[in-house]
Amino acid sequence: MKEESNVSHGTGSADSSAKQSAPSSLGLIGFDSFHFVVENLERSRHFYTDVLDFKEVARAGNDLVTRSGQQSIVFGAGEARVCVSTPLAQKSKAARYLRRHPAGVMSLGFRVKNLDQAIQFLEVRGGTFLSDPIEEKDDRGGSYRSIEIATPLGDVAFRFVERNDFSAFAPGFVDSGHGNAVRPENMFGIAGIDHVTSNGLTMQPIIAWYRDVLGMVPFWEISFHTNDVAQGRDTGSGLRSIVMWDPGSGVKFATNEPLRPFFRDSQITKFVDDNAGNGVQHVAFAVDRIIPTVEELKRRGVRFMATHPAYYRDLPGRLEKLGIHNVKEELAELERLGILVDGSHDRYMLQIFMQEAATLYDESRAGPFFYEIIQRAGDKGFGFGNFRALFESIERAQKAEADKGGQ
Ligand SMILES: [Fe+2]
Repeated sequence: MKEESNVSHGTGSADSSAKQSAPSSLGLIGFDSFHFVVENLERSRHFYTDVLDFKEVARAGNDLVTRSGQQSIVFGAGEARVCVSTPLAQKSKAARYLRRHPAGVMSLGFRVKNLDQAIQFLEVRGGTFLSDPIEEKDDRGGSYRSIEIATPLGDVAFRFVERNDFSAFAPGFVDSGHGNAVRPENMFGIAGIDHVTSNGLTMQPIIAWYRDVLGMVPFWEISFHTNDVAQGRDTGSGLRSIVMWDPGSGVKFATNEPLRPFFRDSQITKFVDDNAGNGVQHVAFAVDRIIPTVEELKRRGVRFMATHPAYYRDLPGRLEKLGIHNVKEELAELERLGILVDGSHDRYMLQIFMQEAATLYDESRAGPFFYEIIQRAGDKGFGFGNFRALFESIERAQKAEADKGGQ
């Protein structure tokens, strides 16, 4: 910890008293919402309401639309809130974002217990505020206060929100009829955001920022390279990932960076290229029952990342090795739908990834972001074991094919 020096942080005496009484935590409660910027708002409305069964809970009121130069609609399922904006004027934040990136996440919002505490905590730790706090009261006595800070994720801001019975989604927003304050039912059982994963070309500045500014601690880390499984190839791909978390609230962030050799071929490098910088790669929604969810989403036209059949041939043996004997779901069903399994010692999770938006819509401006659907049965991990399992399965299947051909 740096002692008082010639370096001045803000106003001298106020600063030292702030240090003495610095709060011990940011006071996070959990995710509040995230803010997505798109070129085609109608397509997003169709995706969230008709496909994912989110309810349209709020939209920007006329004054806010005029002032901000952008139209925004808020979609909700359980506690998950996605605010989707599209620019109407070149001066808007959404237009600025889209001049620099394809569609993607412009800010992540978190609920805090007390905004003053959060501000004080961030101030002492060198957080960079983007503006003064926003404060608003409604006519029923509710209040909303928030502050935004810059992050090492390029143009992604973090927003901290203290809500006290505030009826609207945010100042300037009006309800669309489904009521933002309630928990909208979702036919898939989407209850909230499970985790958020970001990508960067080098993750140390991002991890250090989570630690030093937000006060988070390491939860887990892993690296995987296809070369670990198959040496001597002239192509390959790898990544390194660290998960940081806030133990008080359970908020978790995974951060990925590319791993050499073939650094430029890593899917993480490709994301950073396609996104024109660091950014949020995916958001995972937790569901109660992944099988009927995926079945219905497929019926509604959602395409998921394909899984090689060899993964399922190896799956019984892999589950045995992991000590998982209690998978309730039929493995044949998981295979039919392409759902992945990971975990250990009778704690498992089921996961599947949608194709990235640019692929789903066959349009590069739709961006490299994608959603994950996850069902947890005890396991708290992120399914990183699946990277290796998928690649090993394919390697084994290809080798078996080659051996058969040679006989
Ligand atoms: Fe994930």
